[in-house]
Amino acid sequence: MTPDRATPAELFDLDGRVAIVTGASSGLGAAVASALAALGARVAVVARRRDRLTEIAGRIDGFAVACDLSELDGVDGLEAIVPAVVAELGPPEILINAAGTMFTTERAEDEPVDAIRRTMDLNLVAPLRLSQQVFPHMRTLGRGTIVNISSISGRVGIPGIPQASYAASKAGLSGLAAELAVQWARHSIRVNTVAPGFFRSEITGPLYESERAAAYLRRNTPLPKEGTAEDIVGAVAWLASDAGSYVTGQTIVVDGGWTAR
Ligand SMILES: NC(=O)c1ccc[n+]([C@@H]2O[C@H](COP(=O)([O-])OP(=O)(O)OC[C@H]3O[C@@H](n4cnc5c(N)ncnc54)[C@H](OP(=O)(O)O)[C@@H]3O)[C@@H](O)[C@H]2O)c1
Repeated sequence: MTPDRATPAELFDLDGRVAIVTGASSGLGAAVASALAALGARVAVVARRRDRLTEIAGRIDGFAVACDLSELDGVDGLEAIVPAVVAELGPPEILINAAGTMFTTERAEDEPVDAIRRTMDLNLVAPLRLSQQVFPHMRTLGRGTIVNISSISGRVGIPGIPQASYAASKAGLSGLAAELAVQWARHSIRVNTVAPGFFRSEITGPLYESERAAAYLRRNTPLPKEGTAEDIVGAVAWLASDAGSYVTGQTIVVDGGWTAR
């Protein structure tokens, strides 16, 4: 007898699953939070801007956790997030590490050490620390999925847009995903990374406002359309749901073909 197969809709169904999405007050993280909620997840949205989070949480029936993820320890910092989510929504089985930014646009030889450290703390150490904090809950549940949002700059150099420490932090997320995937596979916890190309958001706003820079982006992106936050959502929903249940340790590039050239 053939076993019953899940339907495609069932594979993406997140009904009742608890998710944490960082960087959810704007851009890609906000789009991902809305998408996971639309698939049935109960979503905790994390970032610094409480007003934005409250508005988004209200719209998706989620839970707002205002926190500066650069504060890696202490009762008011990152360590407060998971206990708050567990108390409000229950144990998390999805973690999306989308918060991130650039702290310097200096050329590599001039990046100040303070900016390098801040970049690593927010973009790489915070995702690792949060992964450590969700781990015991996922282990108890017997399943979990973590998705890091990195960048194509963790894979290729981007001529004309200096970003050495940012690129290093994003490449680090791919290494982190591969290592955690292997260590935690026995608990059916999957860990992957999505590497976006260029998307219009707060972080890239100045690029798109400059006609010269926007033309550079168009010229170097094979697909003719501009990337939107929704283009990231499909990859994240796939990895976060049972649709991606045999995928772990991978970096999935979503870049309109930028790195395929
Ligand atoms: N847009 C692109 O083209 C692109 C390309 C490659 C990779 N990415 C990556 O995609 C992710 C999302 O970026 P985005 O494009 O959507 O930019 P964005 O709109 O600027 O979003 C960044 C998010 O990170 C949060 N954040 C920043 N610093 C934080 C801190 N110290 N503590 C807590 N939250 C913090 C911000 O919220 P608050 O300000 O409210 O704290 C915001 O929600 C980032 O990791 C970025 O590196 C983006």
